[in-house]
Amino acid sequence: MRVEEHPIINFTRGKKVNFFFNGREVEGYEGEPIAAALHAEGIKVLRHTHNKNRPRGFYCAIGNCSSCLMKVDGIPNVRVCVEALREGMHVQTQSGRGELRDNN
Ligand code: FES
Repeated sequence: MRVEEHPIINFTRGKKVNFFFNGREVEGYEGEPIAAALHAEGIKVLRHTHNKNRPRGFYCAIGNCSSCLMKVDGIPNVRVCVEALREGMHVQTQSGRGELRDNN
C-alpha cells in the first residue's frame, strides 16, 4: 500500500529513487513523505521509545506527535511523516531521544 494523498502537505510523486534504511537500499518516490515510502516497503517500526524501548510507527501522520522521529542524514528527531524523500537519503531507526551532533 502506498500513501497517495496527504491531509496537510501537498506532495507530487516524482521519479523512483533509491535511499537507505538502516544501511539497506530501498525504493521510494521523490517528494513523497519518507514514512510513506518506508510503509510501502513494509517497514512499520520507525523508532523505539526512550524509557521502555517500545516500537513506534505512523500515528498522526501530520507532524503533530513524536511517533515517527527518525535519524535522517545524521540529523535526529526528524518527523518523517512530513519530510520529503530525496535520492540517496540515509534514514535510520532512532532509539530514545537521539543525540545532536556537536558542530563546534
Ligand atoms: S506520525 Fe505523528 S509526527 Fe509523524
